[in-house]
Amino acid sequence: MCGIVGAIGVNNPREYVIEGLKNLEYRGYDSAGVGFLNKKIKIYKDVGSPSHLDEILPKNITSDVIISHTRWATHGVPSKKNSHPHLSMNKKISLVHNGLIDNYIDLRNFLISKGYTFYSQTDTEVIGNLLEYYYLQNNDMLVALDKTKANIKGSYACAIINEDYPDTLFMMRKTSPLLVGKGKGFNLIASDASPMVKYTNEFIELDDYEYGYITKYDIKVFNRNNELVDKAVTIKDLESYSHDLNGYPHYMLKEIEEIDTVIKKLVTAYYQDNEYQFNKDLLNDLKESDHIIFLGCGTSYHASLVGGRLFENFNNISTTKYIASEWAFHPTFPGVRPFVVLISQSGETADLIHCQKIIKKKGFRTLLITNTPGSTLSRGATYTLLIHAGVEVSVASTKAYAAQVALLSLLSGAINNDKKVLNDLKDTIRVIEYIKNELKDKIKGIAEEIKDHENIFYLGRSFDYFLSMEASLKLKEVSYIHSEAIPGGELKHGPIALVNEGLPVIVFITDPTTANSMRSNIEEVKSRGAKVYTISTKDLSKDEDSLVVDNYAYYLSGVAVSSIAFYLAYYVSLAKGYNVDKPRNLAKSVTVE
Ligand code: F6R
Repeated sequence: MCGIVGAIGVNNPREYVIEGLKNLEYRGYDSAGVGFLNKKIKIYKDVGSPSHLDEILPKNITSDVIISHTRWATHGVPSKKNSHPHLSMNKKISLVHNGLIDNYIDLRNFLISKGYTFYSQTDTEVIGNLLEYYYLQNNDMLVALDKTKANIKGSYACAIINEDYPDTLFMMRKTSPLLVGKGKGFNLIASDASPMVKYTNEFIELDDYEYGYITKYDIKVFNRNNELVDKAVTIKDLESYSHDLNGYPHYMLKEIEEIDTVIKKLVTAYYQDNEYQFNKDLLNDLKESDHIIFLGCGTSYHASLVGGRLFENFNNISTTKYIASEWAFHPTFPGVRPFVVLISQSGETADLIHCQKIIKKKGFRTLLITNTPGSTLSRGATYTLLIHAGVEVSVASTKAYAAQVALLSLLSGAINNDKKVLNDLKDTIRVIEYIKNELKDKIKGIAEEIKDHENIFYLGRSFDYFLSMEASLKLKEVSYIHSEAIPGGELKHGPIALVNEGLPVIVFITDPTTANSMRSNIEEVKSRGAKVYTISTKDLSKDEDSLVVDNYAYYLSGVAVSSIAFYLAYYVSLAKGYNVDKPRNLAKSVTVE
């Protein structure tokens, strides 16, 4: 979603913000803009990419203080007027904002009653005018920030400049992420570390309701009671934020091809010296809990389905698995000692942050499974486990999904101190390497055959069904083809009505217990004209199957053969000429509900 990049005192502010915004492109955007102080506030913005902004921005910007933004439209269509930065009516204040202001209509009416005029359809313009309204009452920007915070409801990360403060960049944060990068003779601000890691490795993360300012030499953060906070500095290294394509044409392909390495790294991180390396208190909490609630969105929800089934089948713990945004409005805590597992690649997903607040109020303990140390969700969780996947730039999640599933399987193994999963994961690595080295051309061939269809079915049962859900989402996201994942057993309860001549049906058969039933499903759709592509494991395969891989433990299909689903989506998108790394309407980090 929207990305913020700002700086004070940096040597080449123009280069820093343009490069920084490009680094945040993966979050999704439709327009981009820059604001800086050169006696007066100057703003350049337009619909389009940071590269387009680069073209319209003056070549020399000498300003000390600069803010910039990529917008992902929520309130108001993508347009120049709705792009950020926004300027307050009297042109004193300009700001960029990530988040949603729930009460912006009330505030807008209030400000209109005070003589304010609005020029955009955004909720953000309200924040700028409210700040100015309070600022003009007593000429104190910190007071204005405090009063504005007290009146706005919703989520916000804001970088703000004020014409009267040429040496200061103001900031405030609730729910949406905001980080300060600590430099020498300069300071930086951004939505995540990626725009800043070239300049510093020291970071300060703002917490909810915190606000303050940066100057060239100083960082001041205040809490909601206006007390100065001594913020901890965390170190983040350049390598783990690298956006280098390493010779690959697209991030999605690069990230699919990293899956085997990621799984090896993950096993090494959580199993050393013949022992699982999980926090003992976490394992005790899981063992002692009588019900585990799994929460996630999109791909992470699909991983949570696998996690829940693993815990039920192998650890005998009852579980529920919910889409976070569904659970948040009617939360339930089954059992006497529930424990909650939240799964989020980014650690910044607003729907999950909402859930986490509810869980915290109830006092239950949580585990976050994430790729992002120090993220908002991580700071709010009792325990955090990292999936060690390295930065995922492509909007469509791939290696993070495989890593989430692998980590859940290791955790399930660790609860019982059962080490079989370690060998099972080794088998999956061989399968992943085989797919990478031997099957890509065949997958490309299938992509060519299915690319012009309007509808596609994925079929599977149990763990293969969970994988089908992920496969189907991935195809939708990057190829814009409508697809459905259907549990084999459900076909005849409705969806079979949609099967017609030529419908591509992609079937996963990797589980011995469900293989026969899946073969019957194949007959059912074939006899109605469907074109079936079967992915199977050696012992369960038939001659006519499209892709056959070596045997592996059936509960690990999300690790072993998810790359087949990812390559297929990738090649279909490419064949259709789409921007595979930045599919339309989607954002990498979904920081609004
Ligand atoms: C799909 C995808 C999304 C995310 C979802 C949750 O490819 O990436 O469905 O999985 O937005 O994001 P996180 O995991 O960051 O909470």
